[in-house]
Amino acid sequence: MHIIKLNAIDSTNAYLKAISVKKVPKDFTVVVAEEQTKGRGQMGAHWQSETSKNLTLSLFKEVSFLKVEQQFYISKVVALAIIKTLEILNIPKLSIKWPNDILSANKKISGVLIENVIKNNKLQGSIVGIGLNINQKFFNNLPKASSLHLLTGVVYNKDEVMSLLLKQLEFYFRKLESLSFKDISEEYESLMFRINKPSTFKALNETQFIGYIKGVSEEGKLQILLEDNIIKAFDLKEVSLEY
Ligand code: BTN
Repeated sequence: MHIIKLNAIDSTNAYLKAISVKKVPKDFTVVVAEEQTKGRGQMGAHWQSETSKNLTLSLFKEVSFLKVEQQFYISKVVALAIIKTLEILNIPKLSIKWPNDILSANKKISGVLIENVIKNNKLQGSIVGIGLNINQKFFNNLPKASSLHLLTGVVYNKDEVMSLLLKQLEFYFRKLESLSFKDISEEYESLMFRINKPSTFKALNETQFIGYIKGVSEEGKLQILLEDNIIKAFDLKEVSLEY
């Protein structure tokens, strides 16, 4: 594993993307920063993280062994690696809020932004950005955010958490390389937030509806059992789940 440590950068994802255009990075290259001035979240959102308190890192993984249609497996193994790391640290009540937010009880403690490099309809590399809130105490205007410290009272050594996380990422990516799709999906679904429980969703047009999460389709869409007994698959732009 090749680790590049930076003090401040706009975004570790953007940095890794920029260097990967010039030369394909070594597999498992990691870029970690103390501070991001333009941390990127899902759907164009900003990722806030107090300087030096948390982990903000990006990993380059060679993924040409996957078909483009299988790219959601990257999300699955990354979510599982984060969950396993947090289990080792005894963080309670962990779940994966589809696609890959990591919750403890109902609070978000980690977010993932995956940017895949696809050429001629072939998947080449994946840039996996992970924000994990570790020692931050205050989250202004983010009532659903939390950190490991807020949950347990422990002050964590960030380097130790990072090394646990990188080990788990390596383990789960090796599992993916061995094409253990069924195992990976079963483990992911067993950890899904609100799976098989009646839940309220918001559709694109802001209307609310009730449904039951049943799992994730091969392309990574969220499968929801609706009131008329039909299962429909939604993508991230189409639906949100209140928590
Ligand atoms: C989300 O939940 O919205 C995804 C957040 C992803 C944040 C991480 S922090 C490291 C990497 N670099 C970025 O700019 N974003 C990701």
